[in-house]
Amino acid sequence: MLVLGIESSCDETAAAIVADGSTLLASIVDTQIAVHSRYGGVVPELASRRHLETIFPVVHAALQQANIGFDQLDGIAVTRGPGLIGSLLVGFSFTKALAMVTGLPYVGVDHMAGHLLSVFLSDTKPEYPYIALVASGGHSSIFQVTDPLTYRLLGRTRDDAAGEAFDKVAKLLDLGYPGGPAISLLAADGDRNGIPFPRAWLEPDSFDFSFSGIKTAVVNYVNERRRRNEDLDLEKICASFQEAITEVLVEKTIRAARQLGINQVVIAGGVAANLRLREYLLQRGSQEKLNVYIPPPEFCTDNAAMIALAGYHLLRNGHTDSLEADVYSRSSQFVMETQP
Ligand code: KG4
Ligand code: ZN
Repeated sequence: MLVLGIESSCDETAAAIVADGSTLLASIVDTQIAVHSRYGGVVPELASRRHLETIFPVVHAALQQANIGFDQLDGIAVTRGPGLIGSLLVGFSFTKALAMVTGLPYVGVDHMAGHLLSVFLSDTKPEYPYIALVASGGHSSIFQVTDPLTYRLLGRTRDDAAGEAFDKVAKLLDLGYPGGPAISLLAADGDRNGIPFPRAWLEPDSFDFSFSGIKTAVVNYVNERRRRNEDLDLEKICASFQEAITEVLVEKTIRAARQLGINQVVIAGGVAANLRLREYLLQRGSQEKLNVYIPPPEFCTDNAAMIALAGYHLLRNGHTDSLEADVYSRSSQFVMETQP
């Protein structure tokens, strides 16, 4: 079964083709970093325009890479939400038109479901059930994944997402957008225990996160030194900040696994591309005798292969959408309302 996946929820226009929910035949990602970097964040209007310009070339390139035509596809999967409405609508409307013209079935996919299943694009795949941390620019959530279609939300951020905190701290330090890669580069040579930034553990039994406090702590630390005209040790600041975020993300995920008696742990989302986070989780996972699975960095950040993969499971189970279906900006009820 050949599924074309299309993703346009934020600032990446992506298309991919996946066979039988496991073999990647093509994956094209057009990133808009160059469009948004000078503004220090994603400008929704510019994002929609760029999606409009690139959606067809990106889909065309994916078909070429896989060396197939539309007539060989069995279905189309497209991100339906959450994300920027204007951006989502480009991929979604394009998909509806394509479905109408080709007669192919299409299905809307939750972006989070894509991230949760992205680990199956790796060579080593987990067994169900597993605990998954999704940490990206818009989300920091822990899920229990029981099967390809069943996810239980265990906790989520009450304010900023982890990636958002990386992006805001990078902006404060004039490191450009997106902040994660820039911070992680500087952090590599810094003293990660140099500055004791706060860790928000919240209530002892909570799997929720809160990252606005640490962001404020970095702002205060930097402003105080700037006021006194002191030099900033960027490497130390980045390493200490990264360590605080990493520790909370990993320790809560491990606690969720232990508490639910599940010994498989997965991380996904753009922040999972962070080298220190990957290293820390692997180290703690082995201490706790947990099996840890991490997708390659290119499948952590937004891509369409994960959408094709999640869509495959929906299509195979008889889910399709009509031309009346609409996009949504907030997390889908499918994922979010299944709270413990
Ligand atoms: O999953 P993603 O590509 O898009 C969303 O769905 O949000 O994640 C993007 C986020 C950005 O906030 C970016 O700064 C962060 O992931 N990110 C990283 C790294 N690479 C990307 N954060 C920390 N370390 C990285 N190496
Ligand atoms: Zn994402």
